[in-house]
Amino acid sequence: KRVILAYSGGLDTSVIVRWLTDRGFEVITYTADVGQGEELSEIEEKALKAGAVKAIIDDIKEEFAREYILPLIRAGALYEGKYTLLSSLSRPLISKKLVELAHKENAHYVAHGSTGKGNDQVRFEVSVWALDPDIEVLAPVREWEFKSREEEIEYALKHGIPVKATKEKPYSYDKNLWGVAIEAGDLEDPWKEPPEDAFELTVSPEKAPDTPEYIEIEFKEGTPYKLNGKEYPELWKLIWDLNIIAGKHGVGRIDMVENRLVGIKTREVYESPAGVILIRSYDEIESLVLDRFTYHYKLEHIKAPYAKLVYEGLWFSKLRESLDAFNNEIAKIVNGTVRIKLYKGNFYIVGRKSPNSLYSEELATYSPQDAFDHKAGGAFTKVWGLPLKVFARANKK
Ligand code: ARG
Ligand code: SIN
Repeated sequence: KRVILAYSGGLDTSVIVRWLTDRGFEVITYTADVGQGEELSEIEEKALKAGAVKAIIDDIKEEFAREYILPLIRAGALYEGKYTLLSSLSRPLISKKLVELAHKENAHYVAHGSTGKGNDQVRFEVSVWALDPDIEVLAPVREWEFKSREEEIEYALKHGIPVKATKEKPYSYDKNLWGVAIEAGDLEDPWKEPPEDAFELTVSPEKAPDTPEYIEIEFKEGTPYKLNGKEYPELWKLIWDLNIIAGKHGVGRIDMVENRLVGIKTREVYESPAGVILIRSYDEIESLVLDRFTYHYKLEHIKAPYAKLVYEGLWFSKLRESLDAFNNEIAKIVNGTVRIKLYKGNFYIVGRKSPNSLYSEELATYSPQDAFDHKAGGAFTKVWGLPLKVFARANKK
């Protein structure tokens, strides 16, 4: 019995290695570098020590950026209008890698370390089945006997699994290139302000510089490819650098109560500096280059549904592919530059331009250069208001 385990190197997944081994499985671990910014060099040794027969480490930052983050930027997707979907987005990619590895290594099982009350279990399992309906998914955390972290640590020590002696923060983190998700500890009280020590990517507005910083992001055919005039052949690096620049100004903190797929509400804190800026900047170029019909259609029928499907684990669906096709058609004309001011926890779009902009100063101006037909405006208003006029007459008592 062979299983491919999504392995983070943390306590839970290390204990899973041993737990599955005890139950007769041959465990191969898979660890992805999705830009979490952690040293992965010791992971292999850790996995083997815990009992894995093989440990694989895989740098998939660029694939994550190009094939998952970029479609999300093009979709303008924010779950419940706020969350940049950073955790939701990495699960399908990791699932795909698990399935590929299962095929390569002749494994019938894959396993993950998510709990039974989260979204992640759903995303992993639904994604795996969408790619190979015959693979069986194991979720040990949902089943095992440990009732507390202490019991897990005891089990780990008993089996020679190294437990970090350093005091860990009392929060749960999920990190990748698109940001950080922070849960648990004091954050479980939605009335309590998140303590400063919870944050990893951003400073507080109080600690942010007293002078604003201006940045420019340039898009070519729907892809952000220049930051401050510098070209980035690798998208992941642009996102990485933007996180650092904007994080320094405290930009990108999201604090919300969200509706999980499994029916509960949770208080979630996120840091997604590049995320909030890139999604907004993309929209800013669209506001210049799209006609009103297309812009409104996307706003009303694409953005929220796309966010929802990503949140709900439906990445590998015809629906997502179809919506991507719509967004990619628009992306062809998303060219231009956005100018942004970063200041004390906020970002302000202060300028935008595009070679294929539809904005016409001649039509918009109130100066003598005005080219708009004002008389036509009067006729239009009469016709537009006709239904309400007719209604008012009929209902006058
Ligand atoms: N609630 C967020 C989501 O569903 C964050 C999940 C964080 N995952 C984690 N394993 N800590 O996307
Ligand atoms: C988990 O269950 O592992 C984290 C929370 C979530 O998936 O939403």
